[in-house]
Formats: sequence, C-alpha cells, structure tokens
Amino acid sequence: MSEKRIMEISKLLIEAKESIQKASSTEEGEALRIEFLGRKGKFAEIMEKLAKLPLAQKRKQGQEANSAKTEIEYLLAQKNKELSQKGAEKIAATEKIDVTLPGLAPKNGHIHPLTQIQDQIVEIFTSFGYTQASGPEIESEEYNFDKLNILANHPARDMWDTFFVKDKGMVLRTHTSPVQIRYMLKNKPPLRIFAPGRTYRYEQIDAGHLPNFYQCEGLVIDKNITLADLKGTIEEFIKRLFGPQAKIRMRQSYFPFTEPSVEVDMSCTVCKGRGCGVCKTTGWMEIMGAGMVSPQVLRNVGLDPAQWQGFAFGMGIDRICMLKYGVEDIRLLYSANLRFLEQF
Ligand code: DAH
Repeated sequence: MSEKRIMEISKLLIEAKESIQKASSTEEGEALRIEFLGRKGKFAEIMEKLAKLPLAQKRKQGQEANSAKTEIEYLLAQKNKELSQKGAEKIAATEKIDVTLPGLAPKNGHIHPLTQIQDQIVEIFTSFGYTQASGPEIESEEYNFDKLNILANHPARDMWDTFFVKDKGMVLRTHTSPVQIRYMLKNKPPLRIFAPGRTYRYEQIDAGHLPNFYQCEGLVIDKNITLADLKGTIEEFIKRLFGPQAKIRMRQSYFPFTEPSVEVDMSCTVCKGRGCGVCKTTGWMEIMGAGMVSPQVLRNVGLDPAQWQGFAFGMGIDRICMLKYGVEDIRLLYSANLRFLEQF
C-alpha cells in the first residue's frame, strides 16, 4: 500500500519533468504550474491521500512529496526564465527598432504669408518713426466717405463697391482711409501714422479679388510737406521690402481725398521690368493709391490747410504679398491649403 503511494509521487515527478521540458511558452509553463501545483492540481490530490495514511508512513512519504514539489517548482522557474529570455530574443530579432533613425518631428505651425508681410510693413514704418493706428471694421458712412470728401450722391462713391449693414449710416469699411479721419480728429499734428487692417468690398470673386482683403493706410501731416516727401518715403519703403533693385513710378490719378492724386507702380518682380504676362508686358505693377491730403479733408477735421499739409497712401497688403512671393491667385492666401502655405 505504502509503496503504491511512493510510486505515485515518483510518477508524478517524471510526468512533470517531461511536460516542463516540452513547454515552449511562458503560457504553457503557467498552465503546467496550475496542473501540477495548483490548489486542485495533481500534487494536491496526492497530499490529500497522504493525509489519510498512518503517521509513520505519512511522515516518510510527506518528505518525499515535498522534495518532489520543490523540484517541480525549481524546474518550472528555470523553464520560465529560459522561455522569457527566448521571447525577448525573438522580439529583438523580429521587431527590431532602429534607434538611429531620425524621429518624427512634431508639425509646427508658422506665420501666414499675409501676416509675415504685414509684420514687415509694421517693422519698416515703425523704423521710419510712424505710429501704428487702427479703426473699426464696421464704420460710419461719415468716416468711410463724407469726411474723406467722398460726397453722397456723387458718382465718385461708385469707386467703392460697398457692403451696407442693417444699422443705418454704417458700412463695412471699404478702405483703411477712415482711420486717417479718426486719428486727425483725436490727435494734433504733426502726425505720422500707418494703419494696417481688414477691408471689405462687394466684389466678384476672381484671381485678383475677394470681398475681404487687407490694406495699409499711411498719413503724414506736418509743415512744408511736398509730393517729393511722399515719393521718397514710398521709394524707401519698397526698397526695404523688395530689395534695392526695386523701382517705383507715379502716375497721375484721382481720389476725392487727395489733390493731386497718384497711383504708384513698382517694377515687376516676376520679369524684373522686362515685360511679362503678370505685368501685362508693361514691366510695371500697380501697388497703391496716394496723394497730397486734400485741403477739404483737412478742413473736415478742423485743420487749417494754410498751415498744415500732408500726404497719404493706401496699399493692398494682399497685392504686395502676391508680388513678393509670386502668388498668382489671391484665393490661395485664404484657402487654408497646407501644401500652399508650407512654402512660406
Ligand atoms: N483708399 C484708397 C482705396 O482704397 C487708396 C488710397 C488712395 C488711400 C490715396 C490713400 C490715398 O490714403 O491718399 O482705393
């Protein structure tokens, strides 16, 4: 009877050894641990039987059983170690990571080309000693038109295709020129300001036009200001922005708020003045309106034209941005198209 028990213990040990040797994964190892050493496992079964034996036999066989158990535990631990080592080697061999590969850089945003140009304009006029000014985008007709000498019922108002808003007497500003009026009403000359900002016009959308766009206004009021001051200022501004090779020319024009009025062209950035499709073979491109502030505008803000003179100008920031970067369609500047924007 007692011999039988011992046989069971040694059989169990042999069986366990064989199984452990064959195990090929840590999962299998764990299954074997449960099979042999678990609370309801094969070893527990034997211990249950041992408990019923007479004391002397229990002691002897108990010792044997315990050393078998210790051996199984040891073998399992060894196997587990071996298997997890192999697992790590397998991962290293099949899921290799090349730590010398360059990492994936997080995508950084950057300044929009229109903002870049605006920042440069701010920098240049600030360096000239100009003060930055601003005004509201929903503007009164009085400031957007009347005080600028663009009279009601006068055909000159048609120069600005206006968005009217529900509030009577208010419009979306069609240009940044009302900032001149606001500034002159609040500040005493001498004055030197520039005012970049958003403007709105009821335009048919095409490669050159959008219903909203950006302008930058400029205004200088002082004594003995002449058209030569205007020309020198614009010339210097353009050379700073486009480089020393850039040239400007002035053509006579008409604006109700300036007398005389001019339009300023710059040498075409695409063909360098030789003549191409972009400048319609003229070699020149229009970039701003300007002129000497009309005596009527000065009177409208309470200044005496016999004492004070000034020049003013208004440029299209989008236009200048397109010229600087060779962008042929203004809509791209508002498209949120990253393939386009990432070039700048
Ligand atoms: N406000 C004009 C426009 O939007 C541009 C302009 C012309 C502004 C002459 C001026 C100026 O200040 O003197 O077409």
